[in-house]
Amino acid sequence: MKRVFSGVQPTGNLHIGNYLGALKQFVTLQDDAECIYCVVDMHSITVPQDPKLLKDHIKDIAALYMAVGIDPKKAIIFVQSDVPGHAELNWILTCNAYTGELSRMTQFKQKAQGRESAPAGLFCYPVLMAADILLYDTDIVPVGNDQKQHIELTRDLAIRINNKYGETFVVPEGRFVKSGARVMALDDPTSKMSKSAPNEMSRISLLDEPSKIKKAIMRATTDSEGVIRYDIENKPGVSNLLSIYSAFSGKTVEELEAQYQGQGYGNLKKDLVEVTVNALAPIQERFKEIRYSDELVNVLKDGAERANAIAEPVMKRVKERFGLGL
Ligand code: TYM
Repeated sequence: MKRVFSGVQPTGNLHIGNYLGALKQFVTLQDDAECIYCVVDMHSITVPQDPKLLKDHIKDIAALYMAVGIDPKKAIIFVQSDVPGHAELNWILTCNAYTGELSRMTQFKQKAQGRESAPAGLFCYPVLMAADILLYDTDIVPVGNDQKQHIELTRDLAIRINNKYGETFVVPEGRFVKSGARVMALDDPTSKMSKSAPNEMSRISLLDEPSKIKKAIMRATTDSEGVIRYDIENKPGVSNLLSIYSAFSGKTVEELEAQYQGQGYGNLKKDLVEVTVNALAPIQERFKEIRYSDELVNVLKDGAERANAIAEPVMKRVKERFGLGL
């Protein structure tokens, strides 16, 4: 059985980009693979967080994992900082990563932009991500397109260490969906939908009210051509709406183009509101049941134990290869 690992940062409410690019895959994979899903709280402190809010956000993400359909009987759900192996392996990998390759990471460049000085943790962030993945002998990493470069770095590190120290790590592969691997911002379809963009109307959060969803979609940036056609280059706004629609409805983009032939953007947007509201309603309902339950805490405690049981022998093997300890 293949092993799957992925993680989400507890830095605010998840949006439909996180869901369509990552979480939806998490759910489908749990029936065919051994899945480990992590709330990566140590990643989130690469930029300052309010400690009280962070604790809440950790539970929000864990509850959302379950609300979208991850079943803790099938998959492991846990919090990164509860398993010490992540920090331990992070250091060993950091000693094998080059500053040159880290300085080429586009996400670091974006996040560091405009700051007077960037925390070293932000620079080393992709190494911690590699540690998360390699700690579990992971085969498959389901993620959105924005994580491609980080997965490549993880593979490079694993191969580099295997070559130097002998077979140590499983070399993982990224897994990306067809529709939804890069959901763009509704107000600016040339940049990706993000948790931290200042304009609330740029995204649809999984817990948004129907009225907010309607407002954001009806205001979404399109173009003046008035033709519903998928063309990322020339029609990024309409193409983004078609991708979201396709990912939620299961219809292909071609089917949607045919369905809306000769119609205006208003109809497409109106229907997309309905499709989105209907897709999110059961998630929101389940979230409310789980978020403040004892079940959530028990799932995370149990998950940390199960994750640790997998991580410990891997760490033992890694230390042995490097000659660390007695
Ligand atoms: P994060 O928390 O930013 O995002 C969580 C997941 O959502 C995907 N995603 C998107 N997919 C499609 N369209 C978008 N607009 C969009 N925005 C985000 C991300 O690709 C991700 O899959 N570094 C990771 C967290 C991480 C991780 C890991 C992931 C840490 N360790 C180990 C996998 C394995 C991150 O910041 O994701």
